[in-house]
Amino acid sequence: MAGFLFVTDLDHTLVGDDQALLLLNERLQRHREEYGTKIVYATGRSPVLYRELQEEKNLLEPDALILSVGTEIYLDGSDSPDSTWAAILSQGWDRNLVLNQTAKFTELKPQPSTEQRPFKVSFFLEEEASVAVLPKLESELLKSNLNVKLIYSSGIDLDIVPRRSDKGQAVQFLRQKWKFVAEQTVVCGDSGNDIALFATGNERGIIVGNARRELLQWHNENPANHRYLAQNACAGGILEGLRYFGLME
Ligand code: GLC
Ligand code: MG
Repeated sequence: MAGFLFVTDLDHTLVGDDQALLLLNERLQRHREEYGTKIVYATGRSPVLYRELQEEKNLLEPDALILSVGTEIYLDGSDSPDSTWAAILSQGWDRNLVLNQTAKFTELKPQPSTEQRPFKVSFFLEEEASVAVLPKLESELLKSNLNVKLIYSSGIDLDIVPRRSDKGQAVQFLRQKWKFVAEQTVVCGDSGNDIALFATGNERGIIVGNARRELLQWHNENPANHRYLAQNACAGGILEGLRYFGLME
């Protein structure tokens, strides 16, 4: 066995089955001690909502945190986001202009203030309305020369972030920093904001058995041998995938 870079989404991926999570945590912790495996959480949550979940579910302390859909990277337990990453994202990002443009769309309901971040503007958008609204919104934003990306998840969450940012690009940043090859990196997810985890590089991918429709549809349209669709849900699916890739017994 060798150490690997373990990257996982939280809601409905790592978290969702408490029994399986206990078992996975125990294995991961042992792997980290014995082989230097690194544990990274990649979530849409802000620091405030991440801490809530961490305490509620007693999550292992990660080696790095990717928060706010990849727009913030925290290394070695630091309280402030990595400044190199922030400098990359700030190029061409204009938060106020995003707010001005999105104000024209009445279907967009702002998410709570904790989820509005320096490089992330987030709304709730009903799935029915999203079909018409998303393309219109995208073309409006591009017309104003905004270098942004729309990430729609779980039929409700809309995040607007800098084009250079998502969970996948944040993982590439960490891989280069820590020198893990794609074969020794595994990413796990269940929904729309995880597509970038699977789409950006050639890391081993685990899609949990309870994955959302938007991710399954993308997976069917972009099949790859280095991606595994698990039978089991949440942490149980992750354990299944780690065994499939021979990364864990
Ligand atoms: C989390 C965040 C929310 C975001 C969603 C999808 O729920 O709290 O702001 O929209 O993830 O990325
Ligand atoms: Mg999720």
